[in-house]
Amino acid sequence: MVMMMKKKPLSISKNYCFLLFIFSILSTRSIASHNYADALTKSLLYFEAQRSGHLPYNQRVTWRDHSGLTDGLQQGVDLVGGYYDAGDHVKFGLPMAFTVTMVSWGIIEYGDYIAGAGELDHALESIKWGTDYFIKAHTSPNVLWAEVGDGYTDHYCWQRPEDMTTSRQAYKVDENNPGSDVVGETAAAMAAASIVFRKTNPRYSHLLLHHAKQLFEFGDKYRGKYDENMGVVKNYYTSISGFNDELLWAAMWLYKATDDHRYLSYVIDNADSFGGIGWSITEFSWDVKFAGIQVLASQLKCAMGDVTPQELFQFSKQQVDYVLGSNPLNMSYLVGFGPKFPSRVHHRGASIVSYRENKGFIGCTEGYDNWYGSSGPNPNIVFGALVGGPNHKDEFFDRRGNYMQTEACTYNTAPLVGIFAKLNYLEDMNLRTSY
Ligand SMILES: *[C@@H]1O[C@H](CO)[C@@H](O)[C@H](O)[C@H]1NC(C)=O
Repeated sequence: MVMMMKKKPLSISKNYCFLLFIFSILSTRSIASHNYADALTKSLLYFEAQRSGHLPYNQRVTWRDHSGLTDGLQQGVDLVGGYYDAGDHVKFGLPMAFTVTMVSWGIIEYGDYIAGAGELDHALESIKWGTDYFIKAHTSPNVLWAEVGDGYTDHYCWQRPEDMTTSRQAYKVDENNPGSDVVGETAAAMAAASIVFRKTNPRYSHLLLHHAKQLFEFGDKYRGKYDENMGVVKNYYTSISGFNDELLWAAMWLYKATDDHRYLSYVIDNADSFGGIGWSITEFSWDVKFAGIQVLASQLKCAMGDVTPQELFQFSKQQVDYVLGSNPLNMSYLVGFGPKFPSRVHHRGASIVSYRENKGFIGCTEGYDNWYGSSGPNPNIVFGALVGGPNHKDEFFDRRGNYMQTEACTYNTAPLVGIFAKLNYLEDMNLRTSY
């Protein structure tokens, strides 16, 4: 059931046409403004709520505790750590890697603004929590562990991650069962993260780049769709667009990270035959990366398009403001932001009493009986989570069972981190110059 939602692109995009229309009748002057610094802080808290593994002493989301401590054990590999992708407890490699790529991109573009808001350390931690896991999961040049747990057994239970009793079997792609999409995205994530850590942690940056190069070679040499060779992911994160976009995307990030022209040549030589480069693309998501490749490519050549940077900026600000409450319901779809936000988020951990408050074991179906079905608000607020959001009539039904609208995913919040920082910076500038 949750499968449908997972196939959607970024949830905000379904308001795309609607907002584009509004945009055309409004002046370019900005109207609504929100506390973007607060949104930035909260967006980074969300990644702490989604942490799997052994939580550090400075964990700020204190309703969470250690979980998934035997991940990979059955297969003889240490896969403790990483992120749960949404309201369940499967660790899906492809969306996790895309999440890390997106936060990294945000820091590469707007790192100074994130630092200006005092959030750089948290942003770096959110990336490292993912890349530390990818390092563990990439056990040899041509092996990448790409999933822990499975959607079928996981969705049968409603439990806190700390109580998990469902299968934690791990799944991999390798030479015989290739997955160029998940491998390509993980290469992109590690290449992008290597740029982020270049100054603050050069050794780590170098290690990430080493993994990224190996992964790209593996993904390019042994080509295949991961959902065909690792069937467990089918119906959850099937790569509809195939792996061509991830290979180009990985090469693009490797070029940015290394300045090695072989990667750029790879993009130029394959762009046409791999598709998705010459025409307009209406989706940018954990599955489809072509639009991102086009943006990175345009930064290299400074092409003049049909829309001005100012128009693009105004459009993104409108989108962000809509998400934060400038919409017909006056509802923030970023959880925990502003006076009105979803209170029954489809999230196992958030909807059950905190493990640190009550360590009594809550079983697989007990969670459904006693917590999932409750009409009250969730006992824990999953700050910074961006839920699926309103339907095309701008209606939103705040019910736990309504996963299409009330579930959140890490890759929805990830692209917002940098944008919140940029908007916050501009807001500060405006305040200063208006005096
Ligand atoms: C949203 O806010 C506007 C302006 O304050 C108000 O006129 C409108 O009635 C509000 N709508 C809802 C659904 O609360």
